[in-house]
Amino acid sequence: MEAIKRVREQEKRVEENMKRIKYKIAVLSGKGGVGKSFITSNLAFALAEAGWSVGVFDADIYGPSIPRMMGVDGASLYATPDGRIIPAEAPLGVKVVSIGLMLPSQDTPVIWRGALTTSAIRELLAYTDWGELDYLLVDLPPGTGDEQLTIMQLIKDLSGTIIVTIPSQVSAIVVEKAISFSRKLNARILGIVENMSYFECPDGSKHFIFGEGVAQRLSSKHGIPFLGSIPIEPAIARANDAGEPFFIKYPNTNAAQAFRRVASNLIEIVTKHQTN
Ligand SMILES: Nc1ncnc2c1ncn2[C@@H]1O[C@H](COP(=O)(O)OP(=O)(O)OP(=O)(O)O)[C@@H](O)[C@H]1O
Ligand SMILES: [Mg+2]
Repeated sequence: MEAIKRVREQEKRVEENMKRIKYKIAVLSGKGGVGKSFITSNLAFALAEAGWSVGVFDADIYGPSIPRMMGVDGASLYATPDGRIIPAEAPLGVKVVSIGLMLPSQDTPVIWRGALTTSAIRELLAYTDWGELDYLLVDLPPGTGDEQLTIMQLIKDLSGTIIVTIPSQVSAIVVEKAISFSRKLNARILGIVENMSYFECPDGSKHFIFGEGVAQRLSSKHGIPFLGSIPIEPAIARANDAGEPFFIKYPNTNAAQAFRRVASNLIEIVTKHQTN
């Protein structure tokens, strides 16, 4: 009984915290390794650059890569005497909470059972003091299973989901799973982002390495907004590996520009939905 009471109390706290955040968006992809964490991190920076207050919640507790991609790798989360967790602060004032900031070292694997995972996520969401935010982006673990479902259900007034794909047919099949997952949950799909869309040579020619037009086709087939394409750039892997935030370090690249377009499309979509 005690445990049930505690869970209810935490759920209530999550609800209260979330009321102070205008738009809560979960970033999904049916498939692993398509750049979901990279998209979440850099979209957060692009929104912050546009003047919005932004937080990122890394709900991927098995492979937390957000701290590294956002340049807060060495930071750790701390709690106030009254038990509130204060997020780490990334460039442009973006607030970051990740289980990765609570582990003693990067090499520490997290071997938790599903139920424990959910309770860790619930606790983090219940006790983090985000303050007032315009946007909270939630980076979910790869897949569309029970774990993703539980996290999304915790945030009752979720504004919607962003689906990340790469331009391959294999990825497209998995994206359809993510679409039906969102719909099953009655979560609005705010749009699709295509990552690793093409590689641009110094002479300006574009090479569509994984395929072409897949995200646009999915977008028109399912009536979902297409938010934009992010190219493959060697600087991206370099920055991520070095623990430097790409958008901040390389603000003049085509990829950084592409993130600004994705951010402005997203802003237009959420604000339009708000007034409808
Ligand atoms: N557009 C890109 N150009 C070059 N490298 C990229 C690009 N997008 C992502 N990467 C690289 O691909 C790798 C996977 O990206 P990321 O970790 O964001 O994927 P993910 O979908 O979050 O993976 P997981 O399923 O493990 O959570 C990273 O090493 C990242 O640096
Ligand atoms: Mg990830």
